[in-house]
Amino acid sequence: MFFRKSQPETQATAQGGAAPGLVRVGMTVNGKAVSADVEPRTLLVQYLRESLRLTGTHVGCDTSQCGACVIHIDGKAVKSCTTLAVSCEGANVTTIEGLAQGAQLHPMQEAFREHHGLQCGFCTPGMIMSAVDIVQRKGTQLDEATIRHELEGNLCRCTGYHNIVAAVKAGAAAMGGVRQAAE
Ligand code: FES
Ligand code: FES
Repeated sequence: MFFRKSQPETQATAQGGAAPGLVRVGMTVNGKAVSADVEPRTLLVQYLRESLRLTGTHVGCDTSQCGACVIHIDGKAVKSCTTLAVSCEGANVTTIEGLAQGAQLHPMQEAFREHHGLQCGFCTPGMIMSAVDIVQRKGTQLDEATIRHELEGNLCRCTGYHNIVAAVKAGAAAMGGVRQAAE
């Protein structure tokens, strides 16, 4: 796993104005407003993992291939290893840590647990964030072909795709149940 080396980041001060060479960026992460001065080259995944210590978002390839780093920006799945933190000014970011409601897992997380949709678990946060995005775009009744096609951007090194697909299908249906119950 590789991270580009970055300079230490400093919290924004009330006086305003980023430190020389840094850019102030503010966003909402998992419902909490955060702000920091970052190097312009700082990747969103670096910011999330190294500054905010949200290490549930993983880095597998660093080149937008594997999907381990998928998070949501304004409700849409995005690969955070190729997103600049400064491009997220004002954005609403959700990471895997923001899906559960307290001790209650998100239906998609629960489905991965129930269907053993993981082996080592490295790809799992990205798989789940992508799966939730798929449901939001394609609905809660997903067939296997659709799930496999939509998960093309998420790679599992353990090749556990059979259970992952089953988990996404069940999680999608459960999300439908949650949504209907809430309506
Ligand atoms: Fe982002 Fe692999 S680490 S796609
Ligand atoms: Fe190991 Fe997917 S469960 S990489």
